[in-house]
Amino acid sequence: MTRSEDALETATSDASLARSKARSAEIDLAIDQDPSRFRILTGDRPTGHLHLGHYFGTLRNRVLLQNRGVDTWVLVADYQVITDRDGVGPIRERVLGLVADYLAAGIDPERSTIFNHSAVPALNQLMLPFLSLVTESELHRNPTVKAELEATEGRAMTGLMLTYPVHQAADILFCKANIVPVGQDQLPHLEQARLIAQRFDKRYGRAVKDHPVFRRPEALLSQAPMLLGLDGEKMSKSRHNTIELRMSADETAKALKKAKTDSERVITYDPANRPEVSNLLMLASLCGAGTPEEIAERIGDGGAGTLKKVTTEAVNEFFAPIRARRAELAANEDYLLDVLGQGNARANEVATRTLDDVRTAMQMNY
Ligand code: TRP
Repeated sequence: MTRSEDALETATSDASLARSKARSAEIDLAIDQDPSRFRILTGDRPTGHLHLGHYFGTLRNRVLLQNRGVDTWVLVADYQVITDRDGVGPIRERVLGLVADYLAAGIDPERSTIFNHSAVPALNQLMLPFLSLVTESELHRNPTVKAELEATEGRAMTGLMLTYPVHQAADILFCKANIVPVGQDQLPHLEQARLIAQRFDKRYGRAVKDHPVFRRPEALLSQAPMLLGLDGEKMSKSRHNTIELRMSADETAKALKKAKTDSERVITYDPANRPEVSNLLMLASLCGAGTPEEIAERIGDGGAGTLKKVTTEAVNEFFAPIRARRAELAANEDYLLDVLGQGNARANEVATRTLDDVRTAMQMNY
């Protein structure tokens, strides 16, 4: 096994995780010193609507980075929808819904770039030379691909599923993003992107003005606590255990009423032994109701009913302005299309320039 193949497999090992965490802390300081050195790229698959797990896990953090002065690029990963399903679903509604979620949460289209895969041909074309830089066995060993394959319950793996880390590398590398805010599970993908940049450089890179075509992207690990779904399992759209950003106050109350708790009347914050109760306390806490321990203390022996009431109030109060903005935005489809159109124009400009550099490096500029 070569050293670089080794790097991909160990991207999730303890030592490597500790290194990624330490490096993330350094990057965080460097952003404060000079945010203009950084461009971040993040994205979401338009397979449903964003929920509170997304909001507290990543969305809020993107807005903070943008507001700290980092050039922020947000990808609506529409081609990634078909990695694990047979059709695109109600794609137009979902894409515009994502744009509305981003804007409502505070992504500012004047400062940030919101764009989608299928509108940026030069980005997708990078996939071709990139595929020549990875091996089939390397892709099969990617821990995230493996995990996703297991989650598809025996469905055959498509070529796109196997190679989507390469496509994701194109997402990151085309726009020369140097930081990618990620959760731990995405670390192997980032390592794959770094390997592709490195290998391209080794094979062709120095032909362009004596500097490498691609930057080496780094992970900015999120410190956000993981929110569970209302059934105590991982919060995910496919499990129907989410509270969506776009829900009304009533829908939120209804969803929270059905949340799983336990039969203990006295409410305590004890994530290890009372995951469902603690998760609701964490959610109320994230929405500004105090620390989870304080909230538990206040509820005392009020039981699950009071806990749900307190959590519902905190969520509805916190999200009221975001939801009002979202409703306004969602009613103005022309504006959403305009924002996406402008982001795509910017992304196309950058992607075309990068592809030109790639052609030059590969001596394909006839
Ligand atoms: N895979 C990511 C998700 O499931 C979306 C995504 C696509 C992405 N391309 C990316 C994230 C590049 C970070 C960088 O939500």
